[in-house]
This record gives sequence, structure tokens and C-alpha cells, in this order.
Amino acid sequence: MPILNRAAELHAEVTEWRRHLHARPELLYDVHETAAFVARKLEAFGCDEVVPGIGRTGVVGVIRGRLGANPGEGPAIGLRADMDALPLNETTGKPYASQTPGKMHACGHDGHTAMLLGAAKYLAETRNFAGTVVVVFQPAEEGGAGGKAMVEDGLMERFGISRVFGMHNMPGLPVGRFAIRPGPIMAATAEFTATIEGRGGHAAMPHTTIDPVVAASQIVLALQTIASRTVDPIDSAVVSVTKFHAGDAYNVIPQTAEIAGTVRTLRDEVAETVFSRMRAICDGIAAATGTTVNLVIDVNYPVTRNDPRETDFAAAVAAEVAGAAGVATDMAPVMGGEDFSYMLLARPGAFIFAGNGDTAGLHNPAYDFNDELIPHGISYWVRLAETALAR
Ligand code: NI
Repeated sequence: MPILNRAAELHAEVTEWRRHLHARPELLYDVHETAAFVARKLEAFGCDEVVPGIGRTGVVGVIRGRLGANPGEGPAIGLRADMDALPLNETTGKPYASQTPGKMHACGHDGHTAMLLGAAKYLAETRNFAGTVVVVFQPAEEGGAGGKAMVEDGLMERFGISRVFGMHNMPGLPVGRFAIRPGPIMAATAEFTATIEGRGGHAAMPHTTIDPVVAASQIVLALQTIASRTVDPIDSAVVSVTKFHAGDAYNVIPQTAEIAGTVRTLRDEVAETVFSRMRAICDGIAAATGTTVNLVIDVNYPVTRNDPRETDFAAAVAAEVAGAAGVATDMAPVMGGEDFSYMLLARPGAFIFAGNGDTAGLHNPAYDFNDELIPHGISYWVRLAETALAR
């Protein structure tokens, strides 16, 4: 089955919503305008309940089906979109480009929100299911753990959600195609900062100093051996140093240097191995150089792990929309992080990627969500709900 007719009819309207949101990006939990827009739409569609303020600025809409012996009763399924943007300056030059310097929808969450609104409109009109559809709009996916905040705020219990599903666009995958895999689909993330304390002094008399720049440089290089020499080649690990700050003058060896970066893994055991090697490297180079190294590791998002049964289910629904050949069911995991992971820890479900076509990559200043994906995404959401909650 291709795109649903009604989803095609909604295409222009949902595109307008998407571009409206695109022009007004908001960051982290500060998504007040976006959340208000979402809540207004859900009210207008006639959702049975519209509840703002879940997980601070998250919004939940409840749509009860008209099928079954006791319409509106029965299992509830959660469909989730994210609402937040990124701290970037947009370079698309589009007429609907960001009106706020330093903020832009560079990950397509404007499109995710608009597509789920489109599906909510459709489902509120037709209600061809037995049970309840809960549409979940979360804040702060980009580093603020908004998904965790909603779960901790009782999202699953309060709305009786028994299964939960998420979707993200994917540049490079043709529009109309989907990709998914059972098990780990996105990485666990951790951020680290190492502060290297030496003894500053005159750059012409290095023997009287303890140079933290040289020590920090050794640490940067040694960290590169963790993925290449310590972790089993069959496993996945990323250790990226993304910051290196030290010194202000040509002729001064500074007192301190600071390096920082991110770790990505797909298995807890691998993460533990990486962390313990990082500590050993910092301690060893501190001892060898006479510096003091303080390493702080902040464990962030867990692995996004798809339930195998729900993955099969989601892939079958995607195949209805895209055809079996349009759905990759064994895609390679992505080493990016995703806080839908917290929802998947709370309930079984699956996260799927939908093709965004040949666009700039995610988090790139030239990125734009592809509006051609809208009817495919709406069709997926609608059929997922109708199939999961078939009478
Ligand atoms: Ni994203």
C-alpha cells in the first residue's frame, strides 16, 4: 500500500505547519511557543485530552478509538516526536528560514512534530482503532534528556502506554524508504573533561615548568588507542576529543590545559572498558609527566535498543507504506545518541528512520527537513496505530 489518500491531502497543510515551526526554533526545554502551537492544534483536532507540562514543556494528546466492544478502552500505544532545535546559525536561505540568529531546526524535529500532528489530525477524524493513541511531543532531545523527564513525570503510567514508537528522518536515505534494526540502533553517549594541571612558567625555560600542553597532547593521542587497540574490533566504540584549551601567550607555558569530548558505545561492557582505559591513561600520563590530571566522565543517554518483536511489527507496517523493498530491516547502528532510549527502557517499542533524501546532513547549517517525506511519515504513524490497535 502506498501513501494513504488522506495523508496526501494533508500534505500541504502539514508542510505549512512544518515551515511555521522551522522559522521559530526553540532550544531544549524552552520550547514554549512550539508546545503551545502543538497543544492548540491537538485541541482543534478534537483530541479527548490535551495535557501540557509533562516533563516540564512536553505535550501529550489522547485520542480514543471508536472500535471494539467498549470503545475508547483497551491498550494504549505511544507515538513520539521531538520538538527542540539546535544552537546553530542557519545557512539555507529558505524563505521560511530561522528568524532567530543562533537557533535552527537542523535535525528535522520541526518535521517530526509536524508529521505527528498530521497523524493526530487523521486519527482524531477517523478513529478506526480499538483502544487509545497517545501522541507524545517531547522537549530537549538535543542533550537535555527531555524523554527521560517525560518518563520520570509518569508519562507511561498516567496514559497507560504499553508500547512506544519513535521516528527520525535520515539524510541520504531516499524519501519513501525506511530503515530499522532489532537491538541497539543508536549509541550510548558520555561526555568527558580532563583538566591537566602542571606548573606554568617562562616558555624559554621549559625545564623549570611542568608543561600541561605536552601532557594533554599525549593524552589525546593515547585516547586514540582505546578504540583501535583495546576494544574488540567486532564491537563499536568512538572516543572523540572535541575541545583542547590551553594558554593565552606566545611566551608562557600555561598552568593548566583542558581537553574534552564524547564517548559512544553500543554495549554497557564496552563503555565500562573505555572508561577504565581512559582513567588508566590519564593516571599513567599524569605520573609520567608530573602533572595532575582530573578526569570527569558524565554518562549521558543510554543505548537506544529496539525490542525485536516490536521491530518486526514496525518494519511490517513500514513495508505497507513503502513496499517490502523500501524497508531495510538490518541497517547498521548509528553512533549518534537519542533520548527515545529512555522511553524504550520504560516500555517495549521501536525507533525507525525515514528517508530524508539527498539533503545536507543532520546538525549541518545547510540542513532542511524534506517536506516530501511528510505523507510517508503520516501514513506510517497512522497505519502503525491502526494495526497495533486493530479490533
Ligand atoms: Ni534529532
